[in-house]
Amino acid sequence: MELNLRFPDGFVWGAATSSYQIEGAAAEDGRGPSVWDTFSHTPGKVRGGDTGDVAAGHYHLLSEDLDLMAALALRSYRFSISWSRVLPEGTGQVNQKGLDFYRRLVDGLHARGIRPLATLFHWDLPQALQDKGGWENRDCALWFADYAQTVFDALDVADWGTINEPKTVVEAGYQMGVHAPGITDPARSYVALHHLHLAHGLAAQALHALHPGRRIGPALNLSPVYPADDGDAAREQAHLYDGLENRIYLDPILLGRYPDDMMEWIARRSPMPRHVLDGDLAVIAEPVDLLGVQYYNPKYVDGAGRRVFKHPVAQAEWLEIHPEGLYDILVRLHRDYPAVPLRITENGLPTTDAPGPDGRVRDTGRIAYHRDHLAAMHRAMAEGVPVEGYHAWSLLDNFEWAEGYSQRFGLVYVDFETQRRTPKDSALWYRDLIRRGVLR
Ligand code: NOJ
Repeated sequence: MELNLRFPDGFVWGAATSSYQIEGAAAEDGRGPSVWDTFSHTPGKVRGGDTGDVAAGHYHLLSEDLDLMAALALRSYRFSISWSRVLPEGTGQVNQKGLDFYRRLVDGLHARGIRPLATLFHWDLPQALQDKGGWENRDCALWFADYAQTVFDALDVADWGTINEPKTVVEAGYQMGVHAPGITDPARSYVALHHLHLAHGLAAQALHALHPGRRIGPALNLSPVYPADDGDAAREQAHLYDGLENRIYLDPILLGRYPDDMMEWIARRSPMPRHVLDGDLAVIAEPVDLLGVQYYNPKYVDGAGRRVFKHPVAQAEWLEIHPEGLYDILVRLHRDYPAVPLRITENGLPTTDAPGPDGRVRDTGRIAYHRDHLAAMHRAMAEGVPVEGYHAWSLLDNFEWAEGYSQRFGLVYVDFETQRRTPKDSALWYRDLIRRGVLR
């Protein structure tokens, strides 16, 4: 069916990546180790023993990748800065070569008319700071603000993202232990959460004080939570899970408070409330200029609080495909929170891609996924939700954390043996959509 959905002129079409997932060059030009170097080199943590040592080789293929972005007609590129490339010890001495890499990246984007959206933290905490307690240490928020100021001053970037997906750090990093730093302790996880929020707020304050006119916001992965049946128990569980999935991330930043029910729930499991000091919430609620929304999947919960799957699931077992969930989350943000420009900072699908005999990568599933989500997003926009842009996850196939290289999210296929890039059919489809501004 032909859709014919027109997007506003100037809509910010983009693609996203992150430092550890694509750069490689893990020990080059003075980069210090991060928690992900430690974690991926720990046997049994990542599928197949994969690491980000080489990844997609982006550090060395920067100009080729910039040309690729231009060829795909991207108007925006969301990338992250490796904290330990800029500050190998996390604090103190700046590594000029590391900073220069990001200068070349930003200059290359400007030269091609592509807007940068720079994320300060996409999970690769300097190992030196983890050794001092990492996000469980309140000082980590201050170290983060210092690091943020260093890159704010050095890079000609108008739009900034603070913390990528704090929920994933809390749940995968500190509860399930399947991401760095590999901790399995809910008590500690919520202490880390508060300090992540504080770090976000301090960085936002610093940007506003030092560079008025530039914009900053978080990138939150949000999942609408639906009761799996009509019973009261399922409705109550859905409300609880909505707190854990969404409200504990949104409310402090956008409303200046932790939800009461969540604070009671957390207090029964964690000393976190004692770490919330006077004045913290005012810092955390520093007004944001844009809100990054990352949407992949909804969650359905039954009366026993168990997750139930109601829709097809992708190659990633957590990724239940439900485009309407994006519409629901956008409408809800607009209804329940102060108006702020929204950017979809991630949305995408892993598929088992491989080039055909003719070299073409026919990833029709990915095209359908983006098309259906863009249609849902367009419907929210037509109803007045201020969405200014959309970033596909991801520009390139890359290191998918604990899944290593087994899951490909890229618009562009990467042969990890040769580092050869091949735009998949989805990349060409996306390029044509950007040029036309109409979703068909
Ligand atoms: C969200 C994360 O920000 C990104 O790093 C990851 O690769 C994608 N989700 C897919 O899981």
